[in-house]
Amino acid sequence: MLNNMRLLSDLSTKTVRSPSRAMGALSPLDPSSYSRPELAIIKHISLSLNVDFDKHVLSGEATLNFDILADINELILDTSNLQIESIEEVGGSKLQYKLGDNLANFGSKLTILLPKQASSGEKIKIKIKYTTGPTASALQWLDAEQTSGKQHPYMFSQCQPIHARSILPCQDTPAVKFTYDAEVTAPEHFTVLMSALRGQVTANKTSFNQPMPLPSYLVAIAVGVLESRTLGPRSKVWSEKEEIERSAWEFAETERYLQAAEKLCGPYEWTQYDLLVLPPSFPYGGMENPCLTFVTPTLLAGDRSQADVIVHEIMHSWTGNLVTNRNFEHFWLNEGFTVFLERKVGASLINDSAEAKRSRDFHSLLGLQELSEAVETFGASSPLTNLVVDLNGIHPDDAFSRVPYEKGSLFLRYIEDLTGGPEVFDDFLRSYLTKYRKKSLDTDQFKAFLLDYFKDNDKLKKLDWDAWLYTSGMPPAIPDYDTTMTKAITALVAKLNGSVVTFSYKDVSSFTPHQLIHYLQQLIERPALPLEQLRAMGEEYKIIGNKNTEIWYRWLRLCARSKDESKLSEIFGFLNTNGRMKYVRPLYRDLYAWEEVRSQAIDNFLKNEKNMMHVTAYTLKKDLHLIE
Ligand code: BES
Ligand code: ZN
Repeated sequence: MLNNMRLLSDLSTKTVRSPSRAMGALSPLDPSSYSRPELAIIKHISLSLNVDFDKHVLSGEATLNFDILADINELILDTSNLQIESIEEVGGSKLQYKLGDNLANFGSKLTILLPKQASSGEKIKIKIKYTTGPTASALQWLDAEQTSGKQHPYMFSQCQPIHARSILPCQDTPAVKFTYDAEVTAPEHFTVLMSALRGQVTANKTSFNQPMPLPSYLVAIAVGVLESRTLGPRSKVWSEKEEIERSAWEFAETERYLQAAEKLCGPYEWTQYDLLVLPPSFPYGGMENPCLTFVTPTLLAGDRSQADVIVHEIMHSWTGNLVTNRNFEHFWLNEGFTVFLERKVGASLINDSAEAKRSRDFHSLLGLQELSEAVETFGASSPLTNLVVDLNGIHPDDAFSRVPYEKGSLFLRYIEDLTGGPEVFDDFLRSYLTKYRKKSLDTDQFKAFLLDYFKDNDKLKKLDWDAWLYTSGMPPAIPDYDTTMTKAITALVAKLNGSVVTFSYKDVSSFTPHQLIHYLQQLIERPALPLEQLRAMGEEYKIIGNKNTEIWYRWLRLCARSKDESKLSEIFGFLNTNGRMKYVRPLYRDLYAWEEVRSQAIDNFLKNEKNMMHVTAYTLKKDLHLIE
């Protein structure tokens, strides 16, 4: 019987193509995880891994320390394409296990049988020997040619939202927080970095320790031939040597941002705050991996104009990393709070208080614009535009959009205004952070805490929770933002309605990069400009040739929407050298909508898919209607 079980596990490579909503949740507390943390919960993980650049795999062992919370006979973990070699109880014997069917994009349930029943209060330590699949969805393995230096390969991870299961067997739900340590071996001359404090480094082995409990999606690793520069007392920036000087300049003010963040949120608890500038295929702007934020090289604009992304990732040290969403249906508790804090702290970096307020509102207006674009993309009646979403049978990568970011931060701004403004609300924020520090929570817990904190405030009784949380489309109320910084832009856009349209550099010469971005974004949302006009605008406003990617990608979108065939090679060039989804997804969607170019866009995607990270290729395939 037991031998049979082994056999079953070895044979279980059957893949179920796609989950359906009828399938429902994978477990009672988290629709995206098989694990049952209410029965037994991981408290600490020890990893010992070897990085194999030839086979594109990590292999080694994970030791999991469980606290048992109920009478159980088995432990359940999430895995995705892991090859399990053996499982044993530390200090005990080998354990039998069963690997369930591989459900596409959700992975396989790993059931480990305990030799005898375990009871609440016990502790169990289990060692799993395993190897990752060569196409692990959390990892990208780059050949030397895909790096800046072109000499050495490179590997990096992206576990959020549910890809950690492809690099280690774990309870891949943010309801669970554990500390970890790791020992990683890699070829000589490579630098290994993780979302943890770096300990001893020898020729081919690096040790790490993360004494703060974190959810699985914050486990991160990167291995490459890297350099570093000191940015401040607790910060370094890492990158290939080709980008290191530009990176050190761009992020030189990191310590100032950290101090501004601490002033609002209290002490930074993760000790080190380093940055890693990744190769251009990195799919996000930034990822808040503890101790080591990962960022796209497109932040290297040469003008520090993308500091808001760094401030955003810094703010996650409190909202997201210290206080965490219980599952990704409540993702707005991570991202909405973080955007809200990012804008507060961003404004606090400006000395003049009137200007600071204007700037905060300006960035909120930019966010509002992004929210309306997201709502339009999904459709205003789509349940994915609710603040709290239902992820039964839906992969969180498919639900991802600006909605939790912008509807979430707008909701908090609305509550802030309602309860009496920043003087009152900043204190609330700090007590929320204190209460849920090192914990995970859901929206109901947030609601209960807020209502209790403001129990004497009658204004909150008016709040229409259902409209904000569970209703699709744009939010029920939009604050009265200061429009000083958007006035000139609105006027400039209005000029396009005139009978004679002329462009002159002085129209935009006083604009900040963000004002120019806002202008271009408005044009994207209007009917396409005639090609002549678009070209005149691009030239006069000196947009052509601007390599700030926030400006460049919007310019290319405008060209695609005005069907400028002469720009196609530049557009494909951009798409083939950038993996940041914020840019490539809308651009590919624009090309798809341009019927004459659609098949060329699909061919270009198929040719370049192999250079993309899993999540980029997966979402683009959906955008291009190549998969359901
Ligand atoms: N945590 C996110 C990135 C993420 C979200 C990765 C969901 C995987 C799944 C990160 O903090 C983020 O929000 N990045 C933004 C930048 C920010 C300034 C809004 C991005 O990448 O655009
Ligand atoms: Zn974020």
